[in-house]
Amino acid sequence: MTAAAARFPSSFLWGTATAAYQIEGAAREGGRTPSIWDTFSHTPGRTLNGDTGDIAADHFHRRAEDVALMAGLGVNAYRFSVSWPRVQPTGRGPAVQRGLDFYRSLVDDLLEHGIRPALTLYHWDLPQELETAGGWPKRDTAHRFADYARIVAEALGDRVDLWITLNEPWCSAFLGYGSGVHAPGRTDAVAALRAAHHLNLGHGLAAQALRAVLPASAQLSISLNHHVVRARSDKPQDLEARRRIDAVANRVFTGPLLQGAYPRDLLADTAALTDWSFVHSDDLAVIGHPLDMLGLNYYAPSVVAAATDSHRSGADGSADGHGSGAHSPWPAADDVAFCRPSGERTAMGWPVDPTGLHELLMHYTREAPGLPLLITENGAAYDDKPAADGSVHDPDRIRYLHGHLSALQRAMADGADVRGYFLWSLMDNFEWAYGYSKRFGAVYVDYETQARTPKSSARWYAQLVRTGMLPEPPIRDHGSHGHDDTRRGRNSRLPDG
Ligand code: FCB
Repeated sequence: MTAAAARFPSSFLWGTATAAYQIEGAAREGGRTPSIWDTFSHTPGRTLNGDTGDIAADHFHRRAEDVALMAGLGVNAYRFSVSWPRVQPTGRGPAVQRGLDFYRSLVDDLLEHGIRPALTLYHWDLPQELETAGGWPKRDTAHRFADYARIVAEALGDRVDLWITLNEPWCSAFLGYGSGVHAPGRTDAVAALRAAHHLNLGHGLAAQALRAVLPASAQLSISLNHHVVRARSDKPQDLEARRRIDAVANRVFTGPLLQGAYPRDLLADTAALTDWSFVHSDDLAVIGHPLDMLGLNYYAPSVVAAATDSHRSGADGSADGHGSGAHSPWPAADDVAFCRPSGERTAMGWPVDPTGLHELLMHYTREAPGLPLLITENGAAYDDKPAADGSVHDPDRIRYLHGHLSALQRAMADGADVRGYFLWSLMDNFEWAYGYSKRFGAVYVDYETQARTPKSSARWYAQLVRTGMLPEPPIRDHGSHGHDDTRRGRNSRLPDG
């Protein structure tokens, strides 16, 4: 690539991303009621060390300091999520003004610093009362979500112009209701498929509600964790494994969102579980409501193979156990083996493979021509520790980011229309079932004191944002790369986030 092409466009959105339950804390303040994540994290055995988001990074009380941190990085965008139970505690009825006020102040602080807010309506914190009433497997939840979307749009639509309906509906549906490693922790394949449909429907109904309220200039999006799935070999049975995972990981969402229908092969694969009669005749038109941008979250690719006995048991060490656990997140594909590629991994045990990001961007460039793309999450966890002088050096993260942003840049040179990049995450936070054991932040959080310390990756990112050019990463110090995650089996979550 030529030097000129290596500069990112000046209009490029450079951001960091967070989610409400992972950073806010203040779980019982201002009228907020429990979400499914409060219930789940307070249930013994559900999260590592019993960690909860009660306090998290205390962002609710440190909002101004956190916006100042972002201003210090020089970023021009920030992706955050609104906590549904903070603004509409029971998931029904009128909004709590105090809840909305928090987000109004946040957005005002951002705008004052020239940072464009990108608002995610749902990053997994369903009001517990809606789960008690049936949760996402129940159709009504989609309607409740649209009402909530309207409330937030009416309150913030004059100052937020980039809206993301759902974050990673795959995780909500299949980890929440299928494997049960995420809230609400149910393990029912049919409930997971119903949830997937009602999340799709909720997205479509919310998109309609947003359009009705927001100025025409507002941009609507959704953030998918499209799984970059590769077959271990070209053998027909491995290709078939890949097809089945792709159907229930990706096309269950992009079919109705972008193609106007659920994929036939998915309906056939799952026919023994459900006849999909929960899909009503008008739903597909609602779900297909046009998007202005497509948000993609990328962490790592997956390699799959047809099951063999050794894969099934994970005994040969090449499978990561997703297909072999007691409860699978893969309805009708639960015998597919997930292979552990050798090579560098992050502290999550997720492989470091930037080629997957290029592949992902080129996939949508072909499949959804004309639809601008946004990387709404990308980043890595490492076992960051402060040095004696308090500074935090995270060269592995810098190399991860450099590799992935180089891949993104290659994709742009190859024709991908990428408008922005949000680093996951602004700061260390509550990493779901892993609690506080995994640090994804560009800013280190000392959970004892809540002191924030920008890591060296934060300075590296700031330089990138300032110059629009990728700074060179630090040279690898041999022996410091890759970590194995021995707890993976316990909390197993897919590499793709
Ligand atoms: C994604 C989630 C985000 C964070 C990262 C590591 O799946 O959207 O909240 O947990 O993974």
